[in-house]
Amino acid sequence: MFKDLNDFIAALDRERQLARIGEPVSPDLEIAAVTDRVSKSPGGGPALLFERPTGFDIPVAVNLFGSDKRICMALGVKQLDELASEIEELTSPKMPAGMLDALKMLPTINRLRDLMPKTVSSAPCQEVVRKNGSLDDLPILKTWPDDGGRYVTFPLVFTKDPETGMRNIGTYRMQVFDGRSTGMHWQRHKGGAQHYRVAERLKQRMPVAVALGPDPALAYSATAPMPEGLDELLLAGFLRRERVELVKCVTVDLEVPANAQIVLEGYVEPGERRREGPFGDHTGFYSHPDDYPVFHLTCITHRKRPIYLTTVVGIPPMEDYYLGKASERIFLPLIRKTLPEIVDMHFPAAGIFHNIVIVSIDKRYPGHARKIMNAFWGLGQLMFSKTILVVDKDVDVQNEAEVAWIVGTHYDPERDIQFTRGPVDDLEDASDLPAYGSKMGIDATRKWPSEGFTRPWPKKVATTEDAARKADALWAKIQRGWKA
Ligand SMILES: Cc1cc2nc3c(=O)[nH]c(=O)nc-3n(C[C@H](O)[C@H](O)[C@H](O)COP(=O)(O)O)c2cc1C
Repeated sequence: MFKDLNDFIAALDRERQLARIGEPVSPDLEIAAVTDRVSKSPGGGPALLFERPTGFDIPVAVNLFGSDKRICMALGVKQLDELASEIEELTSPKMPAGMLDALKMLPTINRLRDLMPKTVSSAPCQEVVRKNGSLDDLPILKTWPDDGGRYVTFPLVFTKDPETGMRNIGTYRMQVFDGRSTGMHWQRHKGGAQHYRVAERLKQRMPVAVALGPDPALAYSATAPMPEGLDELLLAGFLRRERVELVKCVTVDLEVPANAQIVLEGYVEPGERRREGPFGDHTGFYSHPDDYPVFHLTCITHRKRPIYLTTVVGIPPMEDYYLGKASERIFLPLIRKTLPEIVDMHFPAAGIFHNIVIVSIDKRYPGHARKIMNAFWGLGQLMFSKTILVVDKDVDVQNEAEVAWIVGTHYDPERDIQFTRGPVDDLEDASDLPAYGSKMGIDATRKWPSEGFTRPWPKKVATTEDAARKADALWAKIQRGWKA
């Protein structure tokens, strides 16, 4: 696994997954425009390292996670489903039958030990300490022309619940207001916002630390929809197969990853809000300006030669799709712990995580598809699922064309659509009210007589095995002919 971002970038270079851009490119719109163009190329294009962002001597790294291969590299696997199997194994412990069996379990036990972070006394991220540091010294991007300003788009925001001391890490964008303050865009449903609610109730200033550019597994973990109260560092430790090393901040009572490139230390005041936005968002549209808390900087610490890690969001597909894909795969085995009938799920890139959720189930009783819809609407960030398509277990949910075909042929609109109302994502623009609106599930499973459907279900067309063999043989010849 990668000990830090530099290590990951070196590996991307070796695997010919990185384009180094030596000519000057401006952080003001130009880097984002290049990144957008590259992200839209087949397979997500290469990772980009802008070595000379105009006006700065800190290189900018972007699109590091933006392909199937690179998200796998970041998380140390060949296929994301390997992680699902490892999580399955870890969460289904068996009693060893004997000594040999116990020895075989050692790697799993080590994996559990790696979950807990440890504190170290000195750290690369504190090689340089600048209590009077300014955000103007960092090559923070303005990504789209109508953005309200420059935004830190890939921060790991560390907070602690002021009452319980429980840690949260989330990726929440930060709009630069001036050299010493930014917006803090934690949406109301997120962990950071909950800690801030507690701080406001207690009328307390809340310390915040922001790590930029840690190792890739840790960077991903801050975007993961971990259940409230579960530390993202547990997930990071599991993914990187080594404990996360933390170091105490210089000016606030928080700890940050020792291997980060840059750390912003500061605080948010209770009751303080400032207009944030607009921002060209994951939806492909500008999100509306709104009032958010203000982050006040107390200190910048960084490596002697830091790299600024960022990401660009906009019209999908972009890098965030691959981060979301990792969550889809990693959380599937955990969701199956309470919903074992789920076979697979898929969040298409164009559905921006929650607009379209496709799930296949092993249907066991009448109304089962609706039970799954309701379960999703009650499960963590899956509550944001705006459209849920439920299909039978024989449908490949990763094949969007197959899903469109099956849903279209299997649902009766009046009978099979389930509406509900409830919390919706803060980025939802179509609902009448912010953060509150409607959601829809489509039951596209085969209907049963016990669900009131008494007509025969049609048989799927398929040729005979003999005819298929003949077709395979002839097709091979036809292709050879084409090549000749
Ligand atoms: C690139 C990127 C930017 C994000 N920006 C925000 C943001 O500005 N505000 C927000 O609430 N969530 C944002 N998210 C989503 C959160 O990081 C995600 O919901 C995460 O699970 C939140 O962690 P939490 O549950 O600990 O709050 C972003 C995700 C990504 C991948």
